[in-house]
Amino acid sequence: MTIADKAVLVTGANRGIGRALVEEALRRGAKRVYAGTRQPLAHSDGRVTPVTLDVTNAAQTQAAVENVGSLDILINNAGLALVDDLSDPVALQQHLAVNLFGTYGVTQAFLPLLTRSRGAIVNVLSLSALATVPLTPAYAISKAAAFSLSQSLRALLAGRGVTVHAVLPGPVDTDMIRGWDIPKASPESVARAIFDGVDNGEDEIFPDPMSAAMAESWRSGAAKALERQNAALLQAASVEA
Ligand SMILES: NC(=O)c1ccc[n+]([C@@H]2O[C@H](COP(=O)([O-])OP(=O)(O)OC[C@H]3O[C@@H](n4cnc5c(N)ncnc54)[C@H](OP(=O)(O)O)[C@@H]3O)[C@@H](O)[C@H]2O)c1
Repeated sequence: MTIADKAVLVTGANRGIGRALVEEALRRGAKRVYAGTRQPLAHSDGRVTPVTLDVTNAAQTQAAVENVGSLDILINNAGLALVDDLSDPVALQQHLAVNLFGTYGVTQAFLPLLTRSRGAIVNVLSLSALATVPLTPAYAISKAAAFSLSQSLRALLAGRGVTVHAVLPGPVDTDMIRGWDIPKASPESVARAIFDGVDNGEDEIFPDPMSAAMAESWRSGAAKALERQNAALLQAASVEA
């Protein structure tokens, strides 16, 4: 899957990693980039089509499907991260609403288009899907759940020719962690690595120096082997049926 001449939708496209993904898609020759945003967006490149899309809003999601018409790559990038301590269930619900159910809802809505194009789903998750950051535990829970969603979709959609890529970034220099005094990758470098990972057919994309240090051990590790073993159960069940 290379991006040239493809139609791409990026959620949360107005700033941070999402904005960098829009620019990188244009640089790589995308035919059309649908920029999903909550507020109106203007872009100087004629290949960019703004799409009003709060990922928690089912009516907006359905309207977006009708506006888009045909799609090769869906990038579920919109995300919410707030500091919490798990004392208030509302914080957990807020994170799940955007990071899990938003990703789920947008994916399900665009699935007919992606199946038609034998396209790709790219879920921008976080390294905290694999190991929690206890400053933002509700965020980590939502990203872990979205990681599991990505694994299941990968197995369930393989037979329809749709690939599912889970992006697991470490810290990136955006508004999300503006106040955190730690080394951060640039959103532009992360966007480049995400498209390289999709081009290379990587299930998990580790797009920055911190996460890249885990890539090899993850790919050759017991958890990845178990995912493949479990996915084979689905194939065996469909052969028997
Ligand atoms: N920055 C990091 O260190 C880091 C690390 C790992 C993973 N990530 C992930 O990368 C993705 C992008 O984050 P970022 O760093 O670029 O953060 P950001 O600068 O805070 O941008 C977040 C984006 O998500 C959008 N968004 C939030 N809630 C939404 C909703 N309900 N519907 C539609 N859009 C919504 C925001 O739109 P508004 O402008 O309207 O609020 C904004 O465009 C997120 O999924 C995040 O979890 C980030």
